[in-house]
Parts: sequence; structure tokens; C-alpha cells
Amino acid sequence: MRAHPTDRPADLDVIRESYDRVSDNYAHMVVTTGVGDIRRHPWLKASIDAFADTVSELGPVLDVGCGPGTVTAYLAERGLDVSGVDLSPRMIENARRLHPRCRFRVASATDLDLAEASLGGVLGWWSLFNLPRDVLPQVLALFARALRPGGHFITATHVGDEDVVRTEAYGGVPVRWTTHKWQPEQLVDLIERAGLTLVAELRLPDEEYGGPGVVVMAKRPG
Ligand SMILES: C[S@@+](CC[C@H](N)C(=O)[O-])C[C@H]1O[C@@H](n2cnc3c(N)ncnc32)[C@H](O)[C@@H]1O
Repeated sequence: MRAHPTDRPADLDVIRESYDRVSDNYAHMVVTTGVGDIRRHPWLKASIDAFADTVSELGPVLDVGCGPGTVTAYLAERGLDVSGVDLSPRMIENARRLHPRCRFRVASATDLDLAEASLGGVLGWWSLFNLPRDVLPQVLALFARALRPGGHFITATHVGDEDVVRTEAYGGVPVRWTTHKWQPEQLVDLIERAGLTLVAELRLPDEEYGGPGVVVMAKRPG
């Protein structure tokens, strides 16, 4: 049973169609250039490794906004009981094609029916920045409730104050989505308001990551 229904973003269908359109280019980019593959970014890999080490014995892990499944597959290779979920059916088709042994399904972060205390870990890895500013706190509360006591959440996102409207992405493909950037302090505050305790925060400089970013890990107390 869900505690509270989450508001449906008004632009959810447009975002889904946009990610469907860029999905093949995105998957190709990850496979051929390593951009978006944590194995090529030591600090991102270190963050995911720390998360994996922490949650490996805690229960199932859900990679929300998994895209073509790069991180899901990495965690599965490490022996975690992990599955991926994504808004875009085409992303999930690519994830299944690239990682046929992993489990994936189509759903929005705003439409997940997660049982209380059912997960050891949740990821929102570069996948929560399209959520409207008033919807992200609801999704974080959903994640917090779904975590077991001691379970961990990790997220990576773009840092800034702006709401950037993207009209093309990943090789000039026409898209329509808004990237809601967050200041690390704001994001940590939202995560703590959802009931989680900050574990670590890693700031990523502009030069190396195509814009400043932040990784935050937090846990459900208990
Ligand atoms: C930049 S990609 C990142 C994919 C993957 N996490 C990675 O690191 O390669 C953003 C992903 O978030 C997904 N996404 C956007 N809004 C979402 C939502 N409301 N629910 C679930 N997935 C969403 C998109 O479909 C896309 O696959």
C-alpha cells in the first residue's frame, strides 16, 4: 500500500517521448565513448562502489531512472540483488538488449508502488533532475519509506539554480524537458526532510563533468 499518491508531473508524457527518441544515441554513446559509464569516472565509480559495499547485505536494490542499465548491470556483476526501472520504454528495451541477464521494467519514479521497508538501497543516478521542484520531495519521501532501517539512497544530479529547458540532446535529437538544477545544500535539506540522514556528499567540478554536479548518499536511520 502506498502511503501517499505522488503528483504526476504535467510534462511526464513529453519527457518520456523525449527519452524514447534519444535512447538509441544515449545507449550508443555509453557503449562507444564511455561517457555516462561509471567505470570511466573514478570518483563516480568510487561512489557507486561505496554504495554497493554498504547495501550488499541489506536487501533488494532499485535503480530508478536506470536508462540503458549501465549501473544496474555493474551492481548485478558485483552480486547485488538489483533491478532497474525507467520512464522510457525505449531505454528499457536498450537495457534489456545490452544486459539480458538483468531485470528491468518501465515505470515513472512518480508511479512506483513500493512496499514499506522493502529495499536495502535506492538509486536516483542522474535521473531525478526532470522532476518538478515540488514533486522531488514526494519521490524522496516514497524512497525513504521504501528503505529498510539502515538502507541507503544515492543520487547524482546537476548543480545550479536554473531550470534549463532542453530542446535537443545527445547528438541533436529534438527533445523537450526541463533540467531542474539544485544547490547541494538544498538537495541535502530535501533528503533530510524526507527522513534520511546524510552519509556523504561529493562535489563534482564543472571542467570534468560537463557542468558541476553532486553525489549525495543518505540512509534511513535505524
Ligand atoms: C541522463 S539519463 C541517466 C540514465 C542512467 N541512470 C545512467 O546513469 O546512465 C536519465 C534517465 O532518467 C529517466 N527518467 C526521467 N524521468 C523519469 C521518471 N519520472 N521516472 C523514471 N525515470 C525517469 C530517463 O528516461 C533517462 O533514462
